[in-house]
Amino acid sequence: MTGRNVTSQPSATAFAAVDPVTGVSETPVVVLSGVNRSFGPTRALDDLSLTVRRGEILGIIGRSGAGKSTLIRCLNGLERPDSGRIEIEGRNIVGLSEGELQPIRRKIGMIFQHFNLMSAKTVLDNVALPLKIAGWAKAERRARALELLDLVGLSDKAGSYPAALSGGQKQRVGIARALSARPALLLSDEATSALDPETTRSILTLLKDINRKLGVTVVLITHEMEVVRTIGDRVAVLEAGRIVEQGEVWHVFSDPKTELTQSLLSGVRPQLPVHIASRLSPGGSETVLGVDLTDPGLGNGLFAEILAHLPSAHFLHGGIDHIHDQPVARFFLTVPREPASLVDEAIAYLRSINARVEVLGHVSRPV
Ligand SMILES: Nc1ncnc2c1ncn2[C@@H]1O[C@H](COP(=O)(O)OP(=O)(O)OP(=O)(O)O)[C@@H](O)[C@H]1O
Ligand SMILES: [Mg+2]
Repeated sequence: MTGRNVTSQPSATAFAAVDPVTGVSETPVVVLSGVNRSFGPTRALDDLSLTVRRGEILGIIGRSGAGKSTLIRCLNGLERPDSGRIEIEGRNIVGLSEGELQPIRRKIGMIFQHFNLMSAKTVLDNVALPLKIAGWAKAERRARALELLDLVGLSDKAGSYPAALSGGQKQRVGIARALSARPALLLSDEATSALDPETTRSILTLLKDINRKLGVTVVLITHEMEVVRTIGDRVAVLEAGRIVEQGEVWHVFSDPKTELTQSLLSGVRPQLPVHIASRLSPGGSETVLGVDLTDPGLGNGLFAEILAHLPSAHFLHGGIDHIHDQPVARFFLTVPREPASLVDEAIAYLRSINARVEVLGHVSRPV
């Protein structure tokens, strides 16, 4: 018997706020509700509501001009909404004065596409700068900055100036600086857009590592879908200042519902090969089906099973992929158009195994 009284009933709010097993608070880090921000006639944010859960990496994607940067600037108080609520750790920041915003901004770190380092300061001083502003003593900020440089793998560059660093190293300094005051939330606006693919991967690995090790919640805006796919837990799709689709990354990436999301993700999902797509014609003798399966439980046996059920079908392209640890399948088949029952049967069978099926058109043999 431990000293704790296990039979006492914590209040309902304590139950709701803290996971009894992990001890992790379930209070969202950020809750936006009904946020509006216009610039003249442009509604950059249009009655936007969004919740960022504690400890997650949330990707925000959308076309240029969708309102992504405006959203992130509202989160750190750089932009003021015209109306709505923005709660950071339970406190509504809309309407706060600059002075009142200061302690909240300290809970938020920000990393930028062009790093925004001070060229006249050393790496160590760049990382320590937010701590200097926050009033930390010199010895303490130096110790904290060295600890962070170690975390981002740049201990040996403490005395260097930014000009002597590669892009990836500069972004590591940017990340260390953003983390200096132990923020609860890290905001990233196109932080890897200026980096080559290999450096991007190393920065993403670092961000994921920081997210897991320090429990920092990350909101990242990017045009690179691969970034969200690699490290995002959830994704929200923004269009004209509104969230049009959101969910777990594996789910949205394997079964995008809106045309916008399908179009944004076209580069990271198998597509009908161009030489076939260009030959689609109304008179073709074969019907081309696009198939998505978010739970291809059969693994590699899936295709043998499908072709056993559909002996007249031909497998064109696609396969099983993994998003995090979740297998998802996307592939393309042709089925003879005559007799018409073949296509109907194929669609009915695929739907019976919970696939989403789309008739993409017709093509003539040989495919
Ligand atoms: N300071 C401003 N003054 C006037 N219009 C603005 C201002 N900031 C943003 N806008 C407009 O608001 C809309 C949303 O802009 P925002 O920068 O948030 O888009 P974005 O999604 O970040 O785009 P991108 O992917 O190109 O960075 C755009 O139409 C933009 O022109
Ligand atoms: Mg932007």
